[in-house]
Amino acid sequence: QLGLSILDPGYLATAVCRSSISYIDGDKGILRYRGYNIEDLAEHSTFLEVAYLLIFGDLPTREQLQTWNTRIMRHTFIHENLVDYLRSFRYDAHPMGMVTSALSAMSTFHPEASTALHGEAIYEDETMVNKQIFRCLGKVPTLAACAYRHRIGRPYNSPSNELGYTENFLYMLDRLSESNYLPNAKLARALDVIFILHADHELNCSTAAMRQMTSTGVDPFICLSGAAAALYGPSHGGANEAALKMLEEIGTVDNIAAFIEDVKNKKRKLMGFGHRVYKSYDPRAKILKKISEEVFAIMGRNHLIDVAVELERIALSDEYFIKRNLYPNVDFYSGIIYKAMGFPTDFFPVLFGIARTSGWLAHWHEQLQEPIPIFRPKQAYDGAAARKYVNIDDRV
Ligand code: SDX
Repeated sequence: QLGLSILDPGYLATAVCRSSISYIDGDKGILRYRGYNIEDLAEHSTFLEVAYLLIFGDLPTREQLQTWNTRIMRHTFIHENLVDYLRSFRYDAHPMGMVTSALSAMSTFHPEASTALHGEAIYEDETMVNKQIFRCLGKVPTLAACAYRHRIGRPYNSPSNELGYTENFLYMLDRLSESNYLPNAKLARALDVIFILHADHELNCSTAAMRQMTSTGVDPFICLSGAAAALYGPSHGGANEAALKMLEEIGTVDNIAAFIEDVKNKKRKLMGFGHRVYKSYDPRAKILKKISEEVFAIMGRNHLIDVAVELERIALSDEYFIKRNLYPNVDFYSGIIYKAMGFPTDFFPVLFGIARTSGWLAHWHEQLQEPIPIFRPKQAYDGAAARKYVNIDDRV
């Protein structure tokens, strides 16, 4: 299935991976999941319904969605051994490092371990693959919530099976009060939509990593761990953290002009801007800009939004950015929203990873349906020609 096409004459070859999950038109700023526009899904759907769509290819019926929700919420608890493992991390461990480590620790690569972990199937039609998907989707928010509580030095909270997926995540964070915390429904809806926007995005760096690891036959937990590690980088899912730090450093609209000059002189990058595929406005950024106002109405306005909006206005009217097709991407506004919600900046990539787990699993599942040979990207060798070994005393 993997077609190697020579994109440039001569030696440069790019591995092309076929998929039917997400479609992006970078020039028109279009993103569709299984044919549905991201704008429609953000307005009408829920994150778990979108996860079902990405993985199984169609929107679920009411009954299918009910079963899907129930089975995932049944898998939100993690083993006490894993809780102890997470507690063993330093007090200032980066939450993304904790989550990637915990995912590896959940590897069920050895078949007997996998059976032992799963025991008898609770539902007659629950295949091992579906069970893995339920476990991954169910447990990732719990791992993230433990990493968050660890980060703020508080005891971990157990999940509630009575709440919805995103409400349960906020409940485990227990951010706004110490007990009897029931998440603000509007805040939970805003975060649920943000998860939808971040769920999948074609063959981005971390999804490609997921597919490469899937091709080796290893279990989905280890694949998720590797994909989360790739997402962590500031050029990828870590850009929301970097974009917010950039806005905080700029501080006020008066400082924007000087910062723009630094960018044009190649001294700085405009974090949250530019994209490998979008050479127009990232449709997700447009929706996030709207959501920011909803979150500010609940949590209070963050003045950095004024800096971000003015920075965008100036950049989009500057030839330097226009000529290079540099527009806001998904990470430009998400950091401000997360900050307004009260999350520490190093938790931002973790929030991205919770959402992207659904897309990574969709690609894992798709590749299992049509197994491909182990990934082996073509190399363009430009090293030394053959030469004889030189004894150390003869080297200069
Ligand atoms: C995500 O792949 C995905 O789908 C990823 C993602 C997803 O959902 O999974 O969308 C999530 O990762 C979004 C991107 C988040 N990263 C950032 O915001 C970091 C800042 N952005 C840049 O690092 C950069 O824009 C990239 C890496 C995202 C994309 O770079 P490209 O398209 O490969 O462009 P390039 O590096 O070839 O640059 C082209 C020109 C260069 O200038 P010249 O050499 O032509 O003079 O544009 C300049 C670059 O210097 N440029 C920037 C810039 N990005 C590119 N200049 C200033 N600021 C920037 N952010």
